[in-house]
This record gives sequence, C-alpha cells and structure tokens, in this order.
Amino acid sequence: MRLAWGVTGSGDKFKETVKVMKELKDRLGDSLYVEVFLSKAGQLVARYYKAAEQLETGFDRFWVEVDANTPFLPGRLQLGEFDLFLVAPATSNTVAKIAVGISDTLITNSAIQAIKGFTPVYIMPVDYHEGVTTTTMPSGRLLKLRVRREDADNVRKLEAMEGIHTFEAPGDIPRIVEGFMKRS
Ligand SMILES: Cc1cc2nc3c(=O)[nH]c(=O)nc-3n(C[C@H](O)[C@H](O)[C@H](O)COP(=O)(O)O)c2cc1C
Repeated sequence: MRLAWGVTGSGDKFKETVKVMKELKDRLGDSLYVEVFLSKAGQLVARYYKAAEQLETGFDRFWVEVDANTPFLPGRLQLGEFDLFLVAPATSNTVAKIAVGISDTLITNSAIQAIKGFTPVYIMPVDYHEGVTTTTMPSGRLLKLRVRREDADNVRKLEAMEGIHTFEAPGDIPRIVEGFMKRS
C-alpha cells in the first residue's frame, strides 16, 4: 500500500504521531510504502521536538514544502499514485483552510486535490473538541491549551465534506492503514 503522509506544524500530538507511524512502518516493512511531506511549520516543529532525522530517514521518501505545488504532491494524488493521504497531526490553521476550500499550502492543496482525484483523505485535527487539552512541550513540561469553539466547528465542517474522514488520536492510525491494506 502506498501512503502519502502530510505532517503539519503542530507540537500537540507531534511526537505521539511520529512514534505510531514509525512503529507501523517498522512492523509492516515493504508492504507499507510511506512518503513523508512536511509543511514548512512542520519542519520547524520537527526540529523543536528533535524528530527531524527520524522523519527524514525512517520512511521511504521525505519532502519539505516549498510552495502549494512543490513538491508535486497535489498532482500525484490526483493521478492516483497513492492509496491514501493521511494528514497527522493537522494544525488548526490547516483544518480551517481546508474547511473553507483554501488550498494555498502544500498540505491544504494536496487534501483538496486528492478529493478531486478520488483519493481518500484522513485528517487528525489536534483541536478536535471545544474545551481544554494538555500537550507536552519539547522540554517534557505539560502545557494546558484552550481548544476554541471556532476550531472545533471547523473539524465538524471537515467531517461533513465528501472524501474526508477525521479521527482523533494517533492510536487510530494503525487501524485505518491496516483496514486499507486488507481492502486493497
Ligand atoms: C513549536 C510550535 C508548536 C506549535 N504547536 C501548534 C499546535 O499544537 N497546534 C496548532 O494548531 N498550531 C501550532 N503551532 C502553530 C503552527 O505551526 C502555525 O499555525 C503554522 O502557520 C501552521 O502551518 P501549517 O498548518 O501549514 O503547518 C505551533 C508552532 C510552533 C513553532
């Protein structure tokens, strides 16, 4: 199975997502082909969390956003080169843009072009439910964050969009990916 994995600039759930993805890749080996696509902010956050090298070397190919069409992920998704486009973690910025159809970054453009090309899109928004969440900073310290109603509302908009599926936790990723592998 061929997976395009979009990583945006969210510290929240960043390390947990990388860990789950690495374990999945190590367990499934060549049967799971993964290309990693970092947004510009994703690259910054990966450095903060000291995960840049693992992302660069731990999967089949590694890319960093230059602009909305470079690397050429949106086109490749439209051409059906991947079975699935996974965006995890997804910032409130990326979610808000997709929710209103803005496609001016690599990950938002790729999500929207993937839908147009009938490639399924799975998104893990970090700001999922309105309320308060706790995240772990690169130092290991815990940080309490408010999830705004507007950001949670954007997730509900994504849920209602044809071609997009949302999920809440990194631990859901193996079930999603392996479900696709069984079907293909
Ligand atoms: C260290 C660090 C941690 C961040 N954590 C979050 C986060 O948890 N959630 C979020 O929505 N944005 C977070 N941001 C802000 C986003 O990176 C910023 O909104 C950026 O424009 C998102 O771009 P992208 O969606 O294209 O990746 C963080 C930024 C930095 C530098």
